[in-house]
Amino acid sequence: MEFSVKSPANIAFVKYWGQRDTALVLPFNDSFSMNLSNCFTEIHCTITDNPGDQHLEIKEYEASGYHPASERELAVVKRFYDTAKTFLGCSSDFGFRLRSSNTFPKKAGIASSASFFSALTVAFTKAFDVQLDSKQLSVLARLSGSGSACRSIPDGFVWWHKGDTSDSSYAVSVAPPDYWDLHDIVVIVNTGEKKTNSQDGHPGAVTSPYYASRQQTLPVLMEEMKTAFEARDFTKFGTLVEQEAINFHSIMMTQIPPLFYWSDKTVRIFKQIQALRQGGVEAYVTIDAGENLHVIVEGKTLVAVERLLQNNPDVHSVIYNSPAVGARII
Ligand code: DP6
Repeated sequence: MEFSVKSPANIAFVKYWGQRDTALVLPFNDSFSMNLSNCFTEIHCTITDNPGDQHLEIKEYEASGYHPASERELAVVKRFYDTAKTFLGCSSDFGFRLRSSNTFPKKAGIASSASFFSALTVAFTKAFDVQLDSKQLSVLARLSGSGSACRSIPDGFVWWHKGDTSDSSYAVSVAPPDYWDLHDIVVIVNTGEKKTNSQDGHPGAVTSPYYASRQQTLPVLMEEMKTAFEARDFTKFGTLVEQEAINFHSIMMTQIPPLFYWSDKTVRIFKQIQALRQGGVEAYVTIDAGENLHVIVEGKTLVAVERLLQNNPDVHSVIYNSPAVGARII
């Protein structure tokens, strides 16, 4: 059997940081995101009768060919195969040959594990020949270890309910892609891989002296953001998104050991966007666990930001995204 799966990365407007249950990948708080149209993973899957076939090849951003995945990367995929088999209640095995390609740099703060593991969730579910609804797919994607993968399953704008149990911690679509003409301009200042993965960073979150206050204030912020989203009030929405990103990074910077992802380039571009805003152009910044930036704008503002980023010595490349559907077989 041969088929391909495509799944988007997603940008969180409210971030998931810190885990209440590491084994079950249960977060401390809800999070809210948008799927990205031009940052995605495609996996071509060949399913065989030989369970000994367990292969993964990867094509990196801007590379022309595929290379075999590292042992560590393959081990994570094999582990997820076992997780999926148990979750789906299947007893027979299959072999897989996977070729995965990304339209964006991996491990650089653009949610490459989210797009990869959500795609793999759909692929393994099909290969095991089980039908799951979006909720169950989302639970399985979360169990991959990349919690944010659960948000790449439903379409458009997605809310991850933290839940109390594995079964109640899943993501749902709160609006389709065409609900709002929002864009995420991904500004790549460094294509290199970050030193600390999110999964290694989560355990430290609670060591930040500010984590408790983040957890106390997040429900209020999320309520306000939801209201702004429902009213399509971009000024309010963008202000909250940027505020939340700074709050999230202040946790990472003060956890033990600290995680400091911003570089001089990150800060320069952040300030340029703020200056642009002072000049009347509404654009807001959010940053994931990485050096690269996400500039959130409405369609009418794209050109002004494009102009700022063109010939900018700090910018390696730019990826323009609109809201997108979730993981699916193509
Ligand atoms: C910073 O554990 O889902 O992106 O290591 O990429 O799998 P991966 O990340 P995950 O944590 C992601 C946290 C975040 C914020 C967010 O997307 O909510």
